[in-house]
Amino acid sequence: MTATLSHHYYHDDDVYAYECEHVFRRHWWLVGVESSLAEAGNYLALNLMKWPLVVVRDQQSKLRGYYNLCRHRAGPLVLEGTGHCRDFVCRYHGWRYACSGELLKTPGFEKGEIADPAEMGLLPVRVDSWNGMVFVCLDESAPDLETWLGDIVSIAAGYDETATMHFDGDVIKHAAANWKTYGDNSCEGYHVGMVHKALGSSMLRESVDIDCYDNGEFVGFDVSYSSGKDQSRAGKGFWIYKFPGLLLHFADYAFNAETVLPLDSNSIRLQRWFWSHADKAAANKIDTASIRPNSERVIDEDINICERVQHNLRSGVYPGGTLSARHEPGTIYFQQLVQRALSGFTEPKDSGTKG
Ligand code: FES
Ligand SMILES: [Fe+2]
Repeated sequence: MTATLSHHYYHDDDVYAYECEHVFRRHWWLVGVESSLAEAGNYLALNLMKWPLVVVRDQQSKLRGYYNLCRHRAGPLVLEGTGHCRDFVCRYHGWRYACSGELLKTPGFEKGEIADPAEMGLLPVRVDSWNGMVFVCLDESAPDLETWLGDIVSIAAGYDETATMHFDGDVIKHAAANWKTYGDNSCEGYHVGMVHKALGSSMLRESVDIDCYDNGEFVGFDVSYSSGKDQSRAGKGFWIYKFPGLLLHFADYAFNAETVLPLDSNSIRLQRWFWSHADKAAANKIDTASIRPNSERVIDEDINICERVQHNLRSGVYPGGTLSARHEPGTIYFQQLVQRALSGFTEPKDSGTKG
């Protein structure tokens, strides 16, 4: 018997603060797509949890990552979102930085007033890309991106790369749920029949096969679909939830990736990017136009149930439950990863523990 994780892990601000420093910092986070950063000067700015970041293609075509803050008095270099610039000009007092990070100009300052300008460049952050997606990591000592992805790299080799597909854009959603509530849900197919009625009818039930991969710390579902009602889903597919907050969905005619950003202990921001192979799909009489709306409907259904679960977890009356080794092995594994990651956290006295 496997008991569920204690409810306080799902809504405690101290747990979230611990996670920021000891969990989130140590992982890679999908933040955008390479095609939006194709040209020198293209940038992408975002808040990753509490950290303001900017990723930019420099004049040497190298992808660079920085904290989006000025070395003068912490002003923002750029506002969140995508854009293009030759240099970064701080929005507070106008200090200027090259996209390669060097401090170029400090308007109004006398020569010598800044002791060592060469030491006052932008603060760097690790950035790398894989399969057309851009990732950042705040921990210098964390493994490189491909090591972090582990067995995902060889699984991806069985599907077309995003570079050969059409990029269909992205969608952003917010949910009033802890990232682990969403992770628990994403790691099992047990809820599909109840929560995703349309999806359930097109899924070949016997083909839902869940495996847990230590090399990369992820849960993988071998999902294949009947042509059923949902033509866009026909064919083989592989669904991945990678700890702590990355979803990848490989399929014969499409690929999508989602990042689950924990905003605080009770909310997340979801961003999903879509690619498809319309020509290849059309040759097999598959219409890819419905992939995105269908995906969005599934995300909305998951958000809806997760928000209700979150509400109940916060009520403080849930005494803990039991997970099924047969139907919820992925959630058991995910909760083990959470426990391992939070092993250094000291629990509040009255919280109860996982048995
Ligand atoms: S904070 Fe950037 S120029 Fe002052
Ligand atoms: Fe779901």
